[in-house]
Amino acid sequence: MKRIYIWSLPTRVFHILFALFILLVFISSEEDRWLAYHAIIGYAILILLMFRFSWGVFGPKYSKFKEFPMGKKNVKEFLNNIFEDKQKYIGHNPLASYVMISILIVCFFAIITGVLAYGIQEGKGIFAYLNSSLFKEMEIFEEIHEFLSTLFLVLLAAHIGGVISDRILHKKHETLNSIVTGYKMSEKEEAIRLNIFQKFIAFIFLALLVSFFIFNIMKPDNVLIASSYKAIDYEKQNELFVSECASCHTLYPSKFIA
Ligand code: HEC
Repeated sequence: MKRIYIWSLPTRVFHILFALFILLVFISSEEDRWLAYHAIIGYAILILLMFRFSWGVFGPKYSKFKEFPMGKKNVKEFLNNIFEDKQKYIGHNPLASYVMISILIVCFFAIITGVLAYGIQEGKGIFAYLNSSLFKEMEIFEEIHEFLSTLFLVLLAAHIGGVISDRILHKKHETLNSIVTGYKMSEKEEAIRLNIFQKFIAFIFLALLVSFFIFNIMKPDNVLIASSYKAIDYEKQNELFVSECASCHTLYPSKFIA
């Protein structure tokens, strides 16, 4: 067996950022006051997905969607030979291909429904205008968003389960290491090499992602997360009370002060 290069640097960087942002997006969903961060990370994941979809069309061999062996025959063949040491699939195996595609699609729709729920229920972001009396109470997108997030976790479990089984069944191929090193052990010799166009795509998306974060730091109240409501500053509205009486009295329900 030989060591062949199958996962390019952009593929590996995508994988690690995707894993990291997914972790952050789940953590930030825990508290209401982190919702703006949740939204920003969600948009960042959308940029990653746009990269991955482009990579699936224009990327190197094993990352291309049309190279995913998803035919019925492949699945059967793979399952029949799953305990064999020798493995035919260098990139994603047929089952992994289904999991990968599902992860990307479910994640995409989770983001879309998230942005919709953010606008309709919270009056924030690009769909803030939908927070009218007509739609305000509509929770369907939030429900779909939550359902898809749970489904995503199921797919993630399938992905990790797959990696573990592969590690046990086909240890020699070093699939797990390959997502870090880029190299996998295989009989075949079809290594990848990025062309200038592919490097350009990867560069553009990386630049887009970095600019997106810089934009959010420079302009925290941007259209992607801004609220359609104006925040009320009670202290400004009751200046006299604040200066004369607030040292002893509180004007607002204590939960806003604590
Ligand atoms: C030094 C602290 C302090 C400041 C400053 C102060 N208060 Fe008071 N206030 C109190 C205390 C103590 C009581 C309760 C007195 C009692 O129950 O006998 C009270 C009671 C009151 C009450 C009666 C509440 C009731 O339930 O009967 C009102 C009204 C009130 N304050 C208004 C004000 C306003 C308006 C200001 C600002 C101009 C102010 N207070 C500034 C300490 C303060």
